[in-house]
Amino acid sequence: MKAPPRLQTLVEEGLIDSVVRQLMSGKEAMVFVVRCGDETRCAKIYKEATHRSFRQAVDYTENRKVKNSRSARAMAKGSKFGRQEQEAAWQSAEVDALYRLAAAGVRVPRPYNFFDGVLLMELVTDAHGDAAPRLNDVAFTPAQALQHHATLVAEVVRMLCAGVVHGDLSEFNILLAHVPGEDGAEGVDEPVIIDLPQAVDAAGNNHAQRMLLRDVGNLRDFFGQFAPELLGTEYGPEIWRLYQSGLLSNETPLTGLFDRKLADVDMSAVLREIDDARAEEAARRLRMATPS
Ligand SMILES: Nc1ncnc2c1ncn2[C@@H]1O[C@H](COP(=O)(O)OP(=O)(O)OP(=O)(O)O)[C@@H](O)[C@H]1O
Ligand SMILES: [Mg+2]
Repeated sequence: MKAPPRLQTLVEEGLIDSVVRQLMSGKEAMVFVVRCGDETRCAKIYKEATHRSFRQAVDYTENRKVKNSRSARAMAKGSKFGRQEQEAAWQSAEVDALYRLAAAGVRVPRPYNFFDGVLLMELVTDAHGDAAPRLNDVAFTPAQALQHHATLVAEVVRMLCAGVVHGDLSEFNILLAHVPGEDGAEGVDEPVIIDLPQAVDAAGNNHAQRMLLRDVGNLRDFFGQFAPELLGTEYGPEIWRLYQSGLLSNETPLTGLFDRKLADVDMSAVLREIDDARAEEAARRLRMATPS
C-alpha cells in the first residue's frame, strides 16, 4: 500500500522499504506492518495527546519526573512548548520501557528504532508469520489458561523487579506469539506483552500499587473465565506486599493467597522472627544432643 504521510519520512530515511498493511487503529496509535530489507516489522505511529484518554494523561503526568527543568516548568504551565515536550516524553516512555524490559528478560517486542514519533519494533507473529492475535481473540482450555496465567504473573514480577509497572495490562495488550520448535519439533504459543507508553516507575509513582493490582486483577479475571479456580486468587496483593518488604525476586515462590489481616505487617520482621526461632530451636536440640 502507499505509505501514509507519517511513515513517508521513514521511507525517505531508508528505515522502511515499504508499507504492507494497516493492522489497527487503537486509542493511542495506528499500527502498520512494514518491510525493512527482508524482514517484516511493526510500525506504531502515536496519535496526538488530545486523542488520548484523560485517565492515562493524569496517571502519566502526575508522576513523570522530567530531568530538564525548562521542560518541567513548561509542562506545568501547559504552554505549547510544554505540550510538545510532554508529547515527546510520553512517546519515548514506551521505547524506554521496551528497552528496559527486554534487558530484564521480559517477553516484549524487540524495539529497533524510534524516529519522528514512530516506533519500529519486532512484529509478533502467529504460526503462519502473520500478526499474532490478542489474548482476547483466543479461547483456552483450563490447562492452557492456568499455564499462561502463571507465565504472565511471573512476567509481572519480572517487570516489578526491573522497577516497572505496566499500568494497562489486559487481554487486549498481550499477544499470543508462536515460538517455532527447534529441529522440526512442534512450536509453542507464548504470551508477549505490548503497549507500554503509560508504564510507570514502581518506586517513585503514587499510583504504582493501584496500577499493579489492576494489572494482576485483569489477568485473573480473563483467565478465570477458562479456569474458574483462578478467580479466588490474590496474586496482586501478595506480589505488592513482597515487593514493598524488599523480598520480591524473580524466583520468589508465590501462593496466590493473601491474608488481609497481615496486610500491614512488616514481613521482613516476621521472617526475622521465624529465623530467630529456628536458630534457637537448633541450638536447643544441639544442647540436648550434646552430653554434658
Ligand atoms: N509488535 C507488534 N506485533 C504485532 N502486533 C502488534 C504489535 N504492536 C501492536 N500490535 C497490534 O496493534 C494493536 C494496537 O497496538 P497497541 O495496543 O500498542 O496500541 P493502542 O493504540 O494502545 O491500541 P489500543 O487502544 O487497542 O490498546 C494491538 O492490539 C495489536 O493487535
Ligand atoms: Mg493497546
